[in-house]
Order: sequence, then C-alpha cells, then structure tokens
Amino acid sequence: MEYKYSNDQRILTKHDVHLVGLFSDKKLSHIEGLVSKETLDNIKRIIKTCNFSGKVNDHRTIDDFKSKKQLLLFGLGEKKKYGPLVIKKTLVQIFKKLMQTNMSSVSISLDNLITNGKNEVTLEMILSSIENSRYVYKFKTEKNQTKIKTVSILSKKEVSSKNFSQILKTSLAISNGISLAKELGNTPPNICTPTFLASSIKKMKSKHKSLKVKVIDEPEMKRLGMGAFLSVSKGSKQPGKIVIIEHMPIKSQNPIVIVGKGITFDTGGISLKPSPNMDEMKYDMSGAGSVIGVMKACAEMNLKKNVVGVITSAENMPGSQASRPGDVVQTMSGLKVEILNTDAEGRLVLCDAITYAKKYKPKYLIDIATLTGACLVGLGKYPSGLFTNNQTLANKIMASGDRTGDRVWQLPLYDDYFDELKTNFADIQNIGGRYGGAITAAAFLAKFTQDIKWAHLDIAGTAWEVGPNKGSTGRPVDLLIDFIRSN
Ligand code: BES
Ligand code: MN
Ligand code: ZN
Repeated sequence: MEYKYSNDQRILTKHDVHLVGLFSDKKLSHIEGLVSKETLDNIKRIIKTCNFSGKVNDHRTIDDFKSKKQLLLFGLGEKKKYGPLVIKKTLVQIFKKLMQTNMSSVSISLDNLITNGKNEVTLEMILSSIENSRYVYKFKTEKNQTKIKTVSILSKKEVSSKNFSQILKTSLAISNGISLAKELGNTPPNICTPTFLASSIKKMKSKHKSLKVKVIDEPEMKRLGMGAFLSVSKGSKQPGKIVIIEHMPIKSQNPIVIVGKGITFDTGGISLKPSPNMDEMKYDMSGAGSVIGVMKACAEMNLKKNVVGVITSAENMPGSQASRPGDVVQTMSGLKVEILNTDAEGRLVLCDAITYAKKYKPKYLIDIATLTGACLVGLGKYPSGLFTNNQTLANKIMASGDRTGDRVWQLPLYDDYFDELKTNFADIQNIGGRYGGAITAAAFLAKFTQDIKWAHLDIAGTAWEVGPNKGSTGRPVDLLIDFIRSN
C-alpha cells in the first residue's frame, strides 16, 4: 500500500472512496468547498433521512453522482470524548471492511480528525492504524490480499514531503512493531518456545544494524545464581532463555530498560491450572512479545535513544523435575523465596531478569507481564494495571497511555501489601493472601528493584482479545514507544 499526502482538494475525485469523519453534532463545515453543492445537499439529506447519528460505529456510504465516487461518512462520537482511541478503533474497523471490497484507492479527510492542533501526532496515528488493520495471522492459509493500492491523506494544511516521509517512516515502524508483537503472541505454543523467541530476536537483529543481542542460557544462569528463574524452567524439556536486546546509539546515556515476561506456555506447573481456556496461556509471553516489537520499532525508526529490551522466557510445565509448592530457592539478588504456588511463576522469572538488568543502570526500568488473573478481575479488559515506586514515572506512563489510547490505570503499593509476603521459611514467599492478587504480585517484584525508578505493567487483561476477534492485541507496544520517544 502506498501512502500520499495532499492539500489539493481535487484529489478526492481520483479515489474510489473518500472517508469523512463526522462528530455527533453532524457539523459539515470542514467539507464545505471540498465537495460540490449537490453532494453537500445530498449528504445533508442522507444524514436526515437515514438518521445518521455521528456515533462511533455508525457509517453511511453516499454516491457522489457527479464525480462517480463514493463518500463514506463515519461517526466520531461526541467531540468531548474524542481522542486517539476513537481514531484507532474507527479506522481499523473501516479499513478491515474496505480491504474486503474491490476498491483500489481510498482518500481520507484529515483536518476534522485533529482536535488538539497536533497535526503530526494525529497523522502518525492514522497511518499506523491503517497499517495495523492489515494484520492477519500468517499461519492461516487464507491471506489478506487487499486490493487497496493507495491511501491519500487530504488536508488543507501543508506538510512538506520530507516531513511526511519522516512521519510515514515512524508510523510504519510503530505498526511493524505492533504486528510483530501480535504475530509472536498468536504463534502456537508448540512452535513459540523460548528457543523460538531467541531465534526470532536473532533474525530481527540480522536486519537491524543498531541492535546487539545477548542470549543467557541455563548454564550461564546457574553461574549467575538465577535460582528463581531456573525453578520455573526446570519443569520443562524446553530450555529457558533470557535474551537482552540493546539499541544504544548514544554514548554514555543511561538506557530505558524494558523487561518482558515470556512464559511461552503456562500450565501452572504442579499447581496445575484448570483446563477451560488453558490454550490462552500461550499468550503468557505477550510481555516479551511487546518488548521485541518495541525494540524492532526503535531500530526501524533509528531512534536516538538508548533502550535495552530484556525477555525472560521459559515454559511452565508440571513433571518430575518441576518445582513443588514449599520449595525454597535463592534468587540472583540473594533473597530466598519460598514457592507456595508454582502458578505464580511470572514473578519468579522476572525477579532474576530485573536483578540482571540493573547492571545497565537504567534511567527507568519498566516490566511488562501477563502477571495475574486478579488484574483482569479488578480492571477488566480495557486498561493495563500500573504499579510503581516512583510517581513521576507513573505520571509519564499515564501520559503516554492517554496520548496513544493504550490505557493504563494505577493501583497502590502500600506497605501493608508487603506484609503479606512474609514467611517463616525464607525471606519472602511468592504469593500473597486471598485478595488484591495483582498488587501483591507487584509488591513481590518491587522487592527486587530497590533504588531504581521502576514501573510494572500488568497486561493480563489487555494483551489479547477473546471471542470472534480472538488474538493478540500488540499492547502495550504503542504506549511503550511513545514513552521512550518522549523521555
Ligand atoms: N499467567 C498467569 C496470569 C493470568 C491468568 C493472565 C489468566 C491472564 C489470564 C499467571 O502466571 C498466574 O497464573 N497467576 C496466578 C497467580 C496466583 C497463583 C497467585 C493467578 O493469577 O491466578
Ligand atoms: Mn501462572
Ligand atoms: Zn503466567
């Protein structure tokens, strides 16, 4: 697909369909002068007779008989609720439909989609959303062969072609990062093993000069004293891997470090999970998938920021070699952990990776994990859970969430939660009490962060969708890229 930018209003007639977003106030001022008087009257008549509401998900196609082209009106909802999430949702929905038609060229009015004056940000979001709507899982034989060849963005404002090609490059990098995260998440667990993730990373590295990759295998983990990680991976035939991806174009700048949970399948181990929907536990590597996606995007957009991605990947299986409830293991940090539930494995693979990552002296360290069912229970499927030991960092992450529509919601980390991790048999146990499971999990991780500025994103509810659109969402790649670019 080719993307163009134009401020020549006549371009409209050169496309099969032109998209126009309307708010629920149904004001048409932004297309006056763009279409003929007849068309405008036609639109007004159709809004009335067909009861076009301007709500999100309301669409109408109108034939412009003069130009023999179609206009597609789509609802943007109430102006005061409008934001990045609306743009993303509506465009993905519309483009998925358009890609099933025989149309080969589409144009879209930009100006009414910009409400905050931030031209370039909106343009980026539009382009990456359109790209994102093309994603289909590659193992399926039926491919998404869209006939759409060109998409033109039409605006009254000028953007130099140099600027536009820069914006386009960034948008494509973001959507490629998101697609990669989705693809890894959707890949079945018999294929997507820790070894598979490590070799996908090596493959990515071979295409991007800025990336350096280091794989820590189990013998090295033993040397490093990563007893918590190894207690998880030892139940599986698949060897565990920690993979470090460096993108460090700037000399002597402390990097932002992102650490992703990469459990390629979570059976629960000896604390076996119930069977229903257990297949969804192939998505338990989504944190790692998002880290890989972000690193790809950073490399592709040639970002002048130091970023280090760490994936901590194992398979959580029951078996004669698996950890038992009651086992005590020593972490790389020196803290001893009593494993009371082998299904609380995410925090075990993360704590050693976090300790290791400290050697980078991170400016910020963010871990991303499908950590708890409790987070899903508490917050539902819309925001990711946010936890931190540094409120300034949390505010920055929330700002990125707002800018990208990749929402997060902060939960507290009061001292009381830490008390729940006390045990008579080690320094700390790997589960809390009956309530507030997302928070006690975060409290466990916090024990390994000490003085570094750290935040944890629990993406248990947001990393994948269920139902007819079952699949990885690629979240929170968008948020993380925004965070890295702006900090
Ligand atoms: N990967 C799961 C969390 C999860 C469950 C994410 C369902 C999304 C949907 C995690 O490893 C886990 O099993 N957590 C346990 C923790 C408990 C044993 C303290 C949980 O949430 O039940
Ligand atoms: Mn688990
Ligand atoms: Zn898990």
